[in-house]
Amino acid sequence: MATSSIHTNLIAGSQPRVAPLFGVEVVRFRHRLASTGLFTRDALARLIEACPTEHLGIRAIVGEAPDVARLEGILGNATGTEAIAAIEKGKIWMNIRRIMEWAPQYRSVLDSVFDELAELVPQLKTFKRSMGVLISSPGAWVPYHADIQGQSLWQIEGEKSISIFPSSSEFISPESLERILLREADEDIPYEHWFSNYATKIELRSGDMIAWPLYAPHRVDNHDCLNISVTMEYWTDEIWKSYAVRYGNGVLRRTLGLRRLSTEAHGFHVYPKATSAALWKWLGRQTKGDVITERQFRIDAASTTSRSQIF
Ligand SMILES: [Fe+2]
Repeated sequence: MATSSIHTNLIAGSQPRVAPLFGVEVVRFRHRLASTGLFTRDALARLIEACPTEHLGIRAIVGEAPDVARLEGILGNATGTEAIAAIEKGKIWMNIRRIMEWAPQYRSVLDSVFDELAELVPQLKTFKRSMGVLISSPGAWVPYHADIQGQSLWQIEGEKSISIFPSSSEFISPESLERILLREADEDIPYEHWFSNYATKIELRSGDMIAWPLYAPHRVDNHDCLNISVTMEYWTDEIWKSYAVRYGNGVLRRTLGLRRLSTEAHGFHVYPKATSAALWKWLGRQTKGDVITERQFRIDAASTTSRSQIF
């Protein structure tokens, strides 16, 4: 029910057919997150300054494809306004993570959105919801990858293309997915050029929202303008079971060398696999924290590259 929500009508337009499609197909809405006043450049500058270091992901893209390197960075002494200016002229991707945990005014937005979603999609029982903000440079891109939980993207400012691919094993192998779930790799997965024949390419403009099926690989290409987007992630029982089964499969492959493992998220095999997943984590085998931890630059709005090297 949306009666306790501080914000209302964040999802715009009627969506009479969305209930059976959400989480299964690519779904698009219009949204009104801008009406909260929490996503202006000034508000986000303050958010950047308030962000705990461990939740501020900053990445630079150096070089031209295919010889591209990605560097990890820190805010350093830059103000939030300077950081946004640096991103606008550089090749930088900033991910402000889990904002509902440390900036309570955003928690109410997240709760309101999921209240509205629950009315549109009654069977969608979500938990561990999370919200982040992506601020990224003109022309920046995110390579072909997949996310481990339910994911949606809400465009605030700028324009970008998102290409969404089928989630079948031809496009993301069970082994690739297991490496992501076990945190042995970041979320990038092997890409082949013929995949593009099967992509759904969607242009996102301010006020557009998109959600896609679980594990559907995607890549994102910014147009030639600063991009500000909100991400909202969630788990459901079904997503958790799928995670547990695939994680358990990964453990069984690594410990017993098993192959041809079921990826069905139901049936008797779910709980033993969930147990092996829990055991694996308990044994400390999962990589801790970020897959990448080394930081190579700090944001520097005065530099032509918007970066200063950390020595
Ligand atoms: Fe993603």
